[in-house]
Amino acid sequence: MPSLAVLVLAAGQGTRMRSHLPKVLHELAGWPLLQHVLHAVAPLNPERIVIVVGHKAELVEAALDSADIVWVKQPEQKGTGHAVLCALPALEGFEGDLLILNGDTPLVESETLRTFIGHHRREERGLSVLSMTMDPPTGYGRVVRDAAGGLLEVVEEKDADSRTQKITEVNSGMYCVSTQHISQWLGQVTNDNAQGEYYLPDIIPMAVAAGVGAAYHHKDSLSLAGVNNRMQLSRLEKVFRDRKVEQLMASGVTFIDPDSCWLAPDVEVGQDTVIFPHVLLGVGVSIGEGCRVGPFCEISRSRLGEGSVVRAFCHLDGATSMGPNEIGPYARLRVGSHLAPKAKVGNFCELKKAIIGEGSKVNHLSYVGDTVMGANVNVGAGTITCNYDGVNKHKTTIGDGVFIGSGTQLVAPVTLADGVVIGAGSAITKSVAADSLALTRAPQRVVPSWSTHKKKPA
Ligand code: UD1
Ligand code: CA
Repeated sequence: MPSLAVLVLAAGQGTRMRSHLPKVLHELAGWPLLQHVLHAVAPLNPERIVIVVGHKAELVEAALDSADIVWVKQPEQKGTGHAVLCALPALEGFEGDLLILNGDTPLVESETLRTFIGHHRREERGLSVLSMTMDPPTGYGRVVRDAAGGLLEVVEEKDADSRTQKITEVNSGMYCVSTQHISQWLGQVTNDNAQGEYYLPDIIPMAVAAGVGAAYHHKDSLSLAGVNNRMQLSRLEKVFRDRKVEQLMASGVTFIDPDSCWLAPDVEVGQDTVIFPHVLLGVGVSIGEGCRVGPFCEISRSRLGEGSVVRAFCHLDGATSMGPNEIGPYARLRVGSHLAPKAKVGNFCELKKAIIGEGSKVNHLSYVGDTVMGANVNVGAGTITCNYDGVNKHKTTIGDGVFIGSGTQLVAPVTLADGVVIGAGSAITKSVAADSLALTRAPQRVVPSWSTHKKKPA
C-alpha cells in the first residue's frame, strides 16, 4: 500500500466571512472549521499532515496546537495552486499519495475520504478530484466533461461562460494526487485568469492529457460543502446538529425538541437519557444513562453520572456529578464543582471548586466556593462561604453531618469538624470542634409600641 500524506489549505483570509478572524477558525458546533477537517483525517493515519497557513498564521497555529502537524507559510495568498507549491518543500522525501483538502469543509467524513483514496489507487490515477452536485452551484468551480462523460477540466465561476456556469457538478476542492507528478504540473500553472490567481484545479487538464486524471462524484454534497460566508456556516451547523442528534437518538437518547438543541461534536449521552428543549451541550460533555436535562440548560466540560437530574435553567461548566444527583432549577456549577452520589444543589446556588459529599444538600440561594464538604451536611438557605479577602482565596472545610443554619457566613479559612451545628445568621470566623454548637448572633432588642409612637401623623 502506498503511503499517504495530507495537505490542508488554510491560508486564505476568507474575505466573504467579513471577519477579523481567519475563516478556518470560525467555529461550527464549538470546534474551529479546520479542527473538523483534521478530525476526519486522523483515522486515515497519514504519514504526514501539512497545513498551509498565511493570513494570521500565528492564530491558526495556536488554535490547533499539535506536534503532528507541519505548518507551512504562504506569505501572500496567490491562489490554491500557489499554496500547494509553498508546501512542496515540507513534502520533500515523501513518496506516495497526497490528499489535498481545504480547511473550510467541516462536514467531511473519514469514510468518504477513504473510499475516494481507494478509487484513486485501484484505478492507478495520477490525479483524482472529488466532485459533487450543487444546485445552484454558486461559488464553486464547475466540472466540465466531454460528451462521453470523461473529465476535461474545472472552470472557476468567474472564468466560466454562461453555458459552463449552468453545470451543477462542481469541484469539492478535495484531490488525491501522486507526488511524482505534482511539482511538474504545478510548474506549468499560470495566473492568467479572472482572479489573477494560481488555481490548483488548473493541473486537472494536465493530468487528463497524460491519461491519469479522473473525477469521482460523491452523492452527499452537504458533507463536502465549503464555508465561504456566514449563511453557509449556519446552514452547515444545522446539518451537523441534525446528524449528531440522529446518531444519539439511534443509540437510545430522547430529544423532545431536537431542533432547539445545540451539541458539540464530542458530546456523549447514555441510553434512556431525556434532553428537554433548548439545551446547549458544549465541548467536553459526557452524560450517563437515565439522566434528565431540563429545558434551557447550558452544560460544557462536565460529566453527569447515571440517573442525574438537571432541572431547568442550570449552567454547568467544569462540573462533575457522580450520579444520581439533583441539580437546580437555576443552579450554577462552575469549574471544580464535584457532587458525590445523592448530593443535591438547589435553586439559585453557585458552586466553584466545591466538593459536596454524599447525601449533602445545598438547596437554596447559597454560594459555596473553595470548599471540601463531607457527607450528609445540610447547608441552610443563604449560606455563603466568604472565600476571598480581596487578595487571596481561602479554603472552607466542613465535616460529616454538619448542620448550617440559614443566613450563615463562613469566613475562610475555617473548618467545621464532624457533627457541628451552626446557629442561623452566624458569621463564623474561627474553626469549630466536633459536635459543638457555634453561633454569633447579636442579642435581640425589643422596643415596645415603637411604631405607634414613631409613626404618628404630624
Ligand atoms: C476552491 C476551488 C473551487 C472549488 C472550491 C470548493 C480553486 C481555484 N477553486 O474555490 O474549484 O469548487 O474551492 O470549496 O482552487 N487558500 C490558500 N491559499 C490561497 C487561496 C486559498 O491556502 O492563496 C485556501 C483557503 O484558505 C481555503 C481553500 O484554500 O481553505 C479554498 O480557498 P477558497 O478561496 O475558499 O476557494 P474557493 O473560491 O472556494
Ligand atoms: Ca471555499
